[in-house]
Amino acid sequence: MCPPDYFRVEYAINPWMRPETCSVDSRRARAEWSRLRDVMEIVAEVELLAPSADLPDMVFTANSGFVLGNSVLLARYRHPERRGEVPHVRRYFSDRGYTIHELPAEVCFEGTGDAILDRGGEWIWAGHGFRSDPDAHDVLARCFQLDVVSLHLIDARFYHLDTCLAPLTGGYLMYYPGAFDAPSLSAIEDRVPSERRIVVDEADAATFACNAVNVGKTIIAHALSAGLRERLLRIGFSVEVIPLDEFVKAGGAAFCMMLRLEDERNRPARVKR
Ligand code: ARG
Repeated sequence: MCPPDYFRVEYAINPWMRPETCSVDSRRARAEWSRLRDVMEIVAEVELLAPSADLPDMVFTANSGFVLGNSVLLARYRHPERRGEVPHVRRYFSDRGYTIHELPAEVCFEGTGDAILDRGGEWIWAGHGFRSDPDAHDVLARCFQLDVVSLHLIDARFYHLDTCLAPLTGGYLMYYPGAFDAPSLSAIEDRVPSERRIVVDEADAATFACNAVNVGKTIIAHALSAGLRERLLRIGFSVEVIPLDEFVKAGGAAFCMMLRLEDERNRPARVKR
């Protein structure tokens, strides 16, 4: 995670960002972020990336790359406003001895925002349409030797895959169908049996329900309707709601605000050195 010291809404690179009309309450942002970190520390070990004064979106570390084992594929941001984050992230991973993969110059890829390891099967769900290029999906498959299921995003409010799809422990998949084109919905249905699909409605999607963090049986989200919460509880998850309103002003919530370095489910994650 990256502390929100310099978090602001200064430019608009997604439909949620309105720099002219919204102002971020920095104290509130700090309190929300700290609460998220405190809850994360119960279920995981949290490492911090030092923030940088000229990079107001750096708090959204999910975008900085895709990590599996001791390898990382670094992001190449679509928008110049975020490109300055990459050298900080490269340094973080090179200092820790990771194998670093980079994309060809013309290919954009926004990390775990658009590439999420399934939590039941051995594949990566990958989004394209707004930020990441489909060519990045081939690079992902090659670097990590995993199947990549390409999904086409069609609603600008859900510009990153992690805003509309959340793989959950046990092979469940929580997603908002309205964010995808028809072939993508078929690809989801081919991989996930109907009893494992948790279809979310537009109202829940628009309050970032799918941008939830899942560790083991715990789900952490900015907001969930009573109905959705009930469905998750019924299949054995525990649910923690942490309001992240200041960050929603920038188009992100819980999942965006961390980059998963290890996965308790399948891979050994970081190889011990
Ligand atoms: N303002 C940031 C952007 O538009 C928000 C990123 C949210 N991150 C995410 N993984 N969805 O790039």
